[in-house]
Amino acid sequence: MRIVVLVSGTGSNLQAVIDAVADGSLPVTIAAVGADRPGTRGVERAAEAGIPTFEVDFRQYPDRAEWNRALTDAVAAAEPDYVVSSGFMRILDQHFLDRFPNRYLNTHPALLPSFPGAHGVRDALAHGVKVTGCTVMVADAGVDTGPILAQAAVAVLPEDTEDTLHERIKVEERRLLIETLAGLSAAADTTADTTAGA
Ligand code: GRF
Repeated sequence: MRIVVLVSGTGSNLQAVIDAVADGSLPVTIAAVGADRPGTRGVERAAEAGIPTFEVDFRQYPDRAEWNRALTDAVAAAEPDYVVSSGFMRILDQHFLDRFPNRYLNTHPALLPSFPGAHGVRDALAHGVKVTGCTVMVADAGVDTGPILAQAAVAVLPEDTEDTLHERIKVEERRLLIETLAGLSAAADTTADTTAGA
């Protein structure tokens, strides 16, 4: 199974996926890592691991639709079975979703449908919930509205700040993402076996 991972920032979740592939616990090929801006730590991590990278800089395009088309083409060139948004902070439009139907996965640092959007950890903390967590889902055209594939709970501690809580959530988020990808890869193998035997 081939995946493309999209990042906007530090890419610590991406690093966990790279490490799981390297130690053999996740049987997928990271075909490429892409970003929406130049100079992200995520792309740097991929390059350090010898993974092909691309940057489709949002600011270099006259409008969102053209940027979406360029990003879609860059992702498609790597021929992925799945595209994973891992801290990728932009919504992709229908043109992209039609190219990878049900194949675009996202992770979110809250228990959806609670606290969607860019500040899931901050919003959960501000609301005073005692349990939050993370979600892996199929991304659609909405903000964190797609079908949920997996979730894990994380307790909120009285002394938590946004940063300490987010760090504990990310530990679960990485585990959940890797488990979900491993499950999809095993399912893809079973389908291939069935097809070969038919
Ligand atoms: C993750 O919690 C992701 O869900 C959120 O941003 C974080 C990404 O962190 N949108 P990193 O770039 O993988 O370190």
